[in-house]
Amino acid sequence: MSAEILKPDAGGLARAAALLGAGQLVAFPTETVYGLGADARNDHAVARIFEAKGRPHFNPLIVHLADAAAAARFAVLDGAGERLASAFWPGALTLVLPLRPDAGLSPLVSAGLPTVALRVPDHPVAHALLTAFGGPVAAPSANRSGSISPTRAAHVIEGLGDRIAAVVDGGACPVGLESTIVGFDPAPVLLRPGGLPLEAIEDCLGRRVAPRRADDAITAPGQLSSHYAPDAPVALEAATPPPGALWLGFGSGCDGAALNLSSTGDLVEAAANLFHALRELDARAEPGQRIAVAPIPDHGLGRAINDRLRRAAAPRG
Ligand code: TXA
Ligand code: MG
Repeated sequence: MSAEILKPDAGGLARAAALLGAGQLVAFPTETVYGLGADARNDHAVARIFEAKGRPHFNPLIVHLADAAAAARFAVLDGAGERLASAFWPGALTLVLPLRPDAGLSPLVSAGLPTVALRVPDHPVAHALLTAFGGPVAAPSANRSGSISPTRAAHVIEGLGDRIAAVVDGGACPVGLESTIVGFDPAPVLLRPGGLPLEAIEDCLGRRVAPRRADDAITAPGQLSSHYAPDAPVALEAATPPPGALWLGFGSGCDGAALNLSSTGDLVEAAANLFHALRELDARAEPGQRIAVAPIPDHGLGRAINDRLRRAAAPRG
């Protein structure tokens, strides 16, 4: 079986919504990365996500909603969470909130935790699909476990084409990095840096937001040390081209680079190009050849880019 590739028009979206309603897996574009969607209320459908991704554990999933108003049906949204939701939804922000006992979500979605991760994506195709489906859609990134997140429909087909019912092709994802995840302890905690810069969150709340403690019991695929990994070994902080390596540049002055994330040093452009560039260099690399990445400034979206790069470079388990 190979996945249907659906256009993001009325017919394609109606088909995608019908497949979701029938408990099938449908990948769809969001502004961050492509998600692998399933009806979040259907245990079988959610279980299929883990099977298709080859995920070793039942890690909790993000539930995608068409609009912020739907959040109150599934979670308790108040205080700082409510402020962040009204400032940044729709957008690249996921909030981990107390789960309502009567939410009606499959327990697999939250992996048995008393919390649920919610997000309202800011992408016209995601919004149209969620509206057409009319229910909560659980969706991790639409890649095999441990590999690079997909930012184009072709990436989804490459990794999961024989394991899912369909992908809605909405072109390249404009942000290109997964959402920023914030939880509450009860003080706000950064669980994963991502497409919404931490600085914007701190400005909105008028306070610093601490990163998650390294010994936190919550385990997550995005938090495993080796993740987002290409097959080729990855080296970081390569300010000059290392002999024999494929050099991934950033900014001007990277003339010998095989590719440049942004020749003008624009972190937004670099984020949008990151996963695509890693895939392309991985495809070009000879056996054993390294990908060496130029230094990326560690502020704004650079924080999330460096987080993903450190995982790509981490020792493989
Ligand atoms: O941009 C994104 O966030 C993409 C698109 C498709 O929306 N989705 C995504 O999902 O990156 P995934 O499954 O690859 O990452 C979900 C993250 C995991 O690190 C997971 O542990 C965390 O969300 N998460 C989900 N529910 C949680 C919970 N109840 N408590 C703590 N972390 C949670
Ligand atoms: Mg992922």
